[in-house]
Amino acid sequence: MRDKLEQIKVEALEKLKECQTSQMLDEVRVKYLGKKGELTAILRGMGQLSAEERPIVGKIANEVRETIENAIQEALKEIKNKEKNYRLSLETIDVTMPGKRNKIGGLHPLTKALDEIKEIFIGMGFSVAEGPEVELDYYNFEALNIPKNHPARDEQDTFYINQNVVLRTQTSPVQIRVMENKKPPIRIIAPGRVYRSDTADATHSPIFHQIEGLVVDKGITMASLKGTLDTFAKRMFGEKTRTKFRPHHFPFTEPSAEVDVSCFVCGGEGCRVCKGSGWIEILGCGMVHPDVLRAGGIDPDVYSGFAFGLGLERIVMIKYGIDDIRLFYENDVRFLKQF
Ligand code: DAH
Repeated sequence: MRDKLEQIKVEALEKLKECQTSQMLDEVRVKYLGKKGELTAILRGMGQLSAEERPIVGKIANEVRETIENAIQEALKEIKNKEKNYRLSLETIDVTMPGKRNKIGGLHPLTKALDEIKEIFIGMGFSVAEGPEVELDYYNFEALNIPKNHPARDEQDTFYINQNVVLRTQTSPVQIRVMENKKPPIRIIAPGRVYRSDTADATHSPIFHQIEGLVVDKGITMASLKGTLDTFAKRMFGEKTRTKFRPHHFPFTEPSAEVDVSCFVCGGEGCRVCKGSGWIEILGCGMVHPDVLRAGGIDPDVYSGFAFGLGLERIVMIKYGIDDIRLFYENDVRFLKQF
């Protein structure tokens, strides 16, 4: 019987060593110490032993039980520990891992350039005005002195909603709306979308942006116009920029001019950006036509004014060397990220 007990002890301890989980430990416990366990069976059979033997075997049996129980407790502790360490290892944070960068959005290049232009004109005392994109034919053409047979009215260029309503083809109608609502001195810029029924290609888009400017007061002259636009060009393209006013024709200004700036890439030497001329055309302008002042409810014998209009896309394309206007509207992040 002693041998049997010894064998049970050795066997049980051996089995415990192999246990990987608390469930496996329990199985060992049941096998030896459970109600139908091997050690329990021996303790039960003790009644058959003689009176001298019983206490001795009983003592050994108890020791074996204790040893096994202790070993189970030990093993349980160890397994619990291992399980905890495993769980902790899953939860640990490796502070040396590279972080996940948050992708931060940016402003669209047109928005950025517009902000810059607004800033420049606001610095010269202008305020920002707005007008509707769905516009009356009257404001878009008639009041701007654009006669019925003018090519700008050709249906090919204009989206007509109906006979009297168009998608504005220019921001110039805002001039009339401002003059109707405000007495001089007037000093505004009016940025916004304009529409033309052009087929999209590298330099044309059916929708693009213009920035209109209007100044009306007593004693406004061509010199005021030149000074304002020259200051704008220097702030926008750099202090060294020179401007050139070329005579031109617009129905709503008289006299009219187109303004070129000296090429900010080559400084006027001639390069790819200015196509060798040293100059880049950036806007149209002129002294507000007396008929246009009248249409705005302003007496041309008392007041005079100048106006200008520039294409936002064109300026941004020149500034960044962008060769296709469609890139502005495709929202390809690889394009947008560059600004
Ligand atoms: N509205 C003109 C266009 O779309 C641009 C323009 C030229 C606006 C001269 C003006 C101006 O105010 O004075 O082509």
